[in-house]
Amino acid sequence: MKFQHLFCRLAAAALVSWASIAAAQTALPATIGPYLQNPGPDRMTVCFLTREADYAAGYYHAAESALKQRIQPRPTVIAGTPWTLWKAALTGLKADSSYVYQLTYGRGQGTQQTVLLRFNTLSSRLETPFKAAFFNDLHSRTDTLEALMAHISPEAYDVSVLMGDCWQDPSAANGAEAVFRVLDACVRMLDAGQKPMLYLRGNHETRGDFAASMAYLFDLPLLNPTAKLGEQAHQFALTAGPVRLIALDTGEDFNKRAAIFEPMRQRQAEWLRHILSDQQPAPWQILVSHQPLYNDNIWYSEASRALWEPILAKAQIDIALAAHDHKWKRLLAGQRFEVTLSESDAGKHLGTAATYTLNVPWPILIGGGPAREEATVMLLTATASRLDVRIQDANGRTLTELTLEK
Ligand SMILES: [Fe+2]
Repeated sequence: MKFQHLFCRLAAAALVSWASIAAAQTALPATIGPYLQNPGPDRMTVCFLTREADYAAGYYHAAESALKQRIQPRPTVIAGTPWTLWKAALTGLKADSSYVYQLTYGRGQGTQQTVLLRFNTLSSRLETPFKAAFFNDLHSRTDTLEALMAHISPEAYDVSVLMGDCWQDPSAANGAEAVFRVLDACVRMLDAGQKPMLYLRGNHETRGDFAASMAYLFDLPLLNPTAKLGEQAHQFALTAGPVRLIALDTGEDFNKRAAIFEPMRQRQAEWLRHILSDQQPAPWQILVSHQPLYNDNIWYSEASRALWEPILAKAQIDIALAAHDHKWKRLLAGQRFEVTLSESDAGKHLGTAATYTLNVPWPILIGGGPAREEATVMLLTATASRLDVRIQDANGRTLTELTLEK
């Protein structure tokens, strides 16, 4: 009897530990996505991650047409991980149009299909409203994203923007498991298979031994994932309906790793000059950066401000959206701040101790932090004559609302 009892207990314990090992192993799904990247009026990139498939293919067609076109994604094995990224650029699409797509994938004879998904290309008509949701500083807290999403209706946004530090120091440990878990949560919760999910790097995403490989997970117009960390071009300009987003990569904070990030910021200054002279401005110019270029405390990028301020002065920026501070904030155009970086803070953060005078040239909204009680989302809606941005917390409460009209 006694022996039988012991045997049962051992068997039960074995079962429990097997179950927990299995749970740990199955914590990540076999696939992530599909998810949409690099949207344009005539293009969309479809990304899909698999761990076991040796092929992936698919088709797409305009929603109002049955004429199918083939999707043949190119596989890239992401080094140091069990994941293969399948990436396909769909080009020659019609602006402001709806498309349907589906992928098939598998190994050998075993074939599986994703659900049927639908996306819209960006509009090139000023009359089409643009709606976007901006998230920041999740620091890998997917529970915070879940709390925010509980109060965001699907109609509230067409595009989501991850504006930095959504990943906390990306680690290559266990095949970069933590990185892919956050990506999977973002893709699922933001409905990134049907709404493009834009990625703008924050200072924490430049840290960690998987930082350089993060670029494999996204598609941006200038981004080459095989380039070194400081040579990857994460900045982008995107025009959709009445809005042009100008997204700049502020890199590391203060003067950290200046040998890498100062040339990167300088290259972006050149790029900024180029796009400002080359592209037509939209009715609304929205500047997006992880670190704000102005703040009432030390949590802004002096290095970026010093370089980009003279160029941006000619860009007719209507509003800037930023992050990094971990405390939501609204700064008004015309405010002036004297910000002192003390000797001790300069030593701690690798900055230059001084008092900096900052003249805020346009309204700035800064999003909150990673904990549920400090987290925010910025919900933007723009028509050609009116722009509304609302900062909302994880209880669905509006913290501030800003309206611009022209
Ligand atoms: Fe940050």
